[in-house]
Amino acid sequence: MIAIYYLTWDWKNMKLRINGTEYDIAEEPPRPLLWVLRDELGLTGTKFGCGAGFCGSCTVHIDGEAVRSCVTPLTTVAGEIRTIEGLSLMAEDGTIQLHPVQQAFLEDQVPQCSWCMSGQMMTAAAFLAKNPAPTGDRNRRSDERKLLPLWLLLPREKCSC
Ligand code: FES
Repeated sequence: MIAIYYLTWDWKNMKLRINGTEYDIAEEPPRPLLWVLRDELGLTGTKFGCGAGFCGSCTVHIDGEAVRSCVTPLTTVAGEIRTIEGLSLMAEDGTIQLHPVQQAFLEDQVPQCSWCMSGQMMTAAAFLAKNPAPTGDRNRRSDERKLLPLWLLLPREKCSC
């Protein structure tokens, strides 16, 4: 049955724009965006964790929205993709300038095993782009809010180490 499906599939290519570069990708039978990023394009900064949309290790941006690439079918992708490899910026002098979230992770020594860290940074970057001055729980006292580390403000990010 699977062989027939492969033989009858209408093979065509689709264009993906990832981190400012355009790629022609074969629209093979349904596969998640994560496989294309990691296995075909070598963008291995995006990690596989649960494979079910829960852990956030595979988070990338599509048009600025944080998306779980493990549960995003390739054929549904429309828009500019940004992975952790594209989060930092190229300065005018050609040096790499870390995204403020990457800089904060470094300065606060956030990494543990680091498997899910790229997903956390991508989620934080998308979150902060929409909420530039997050305050955390509105019911907390203002002095408690100042103590909240960034990762506690992130929605649905789970570190399992
Ligand atoms: S690997 Fe995608 S959410 Fe866990």
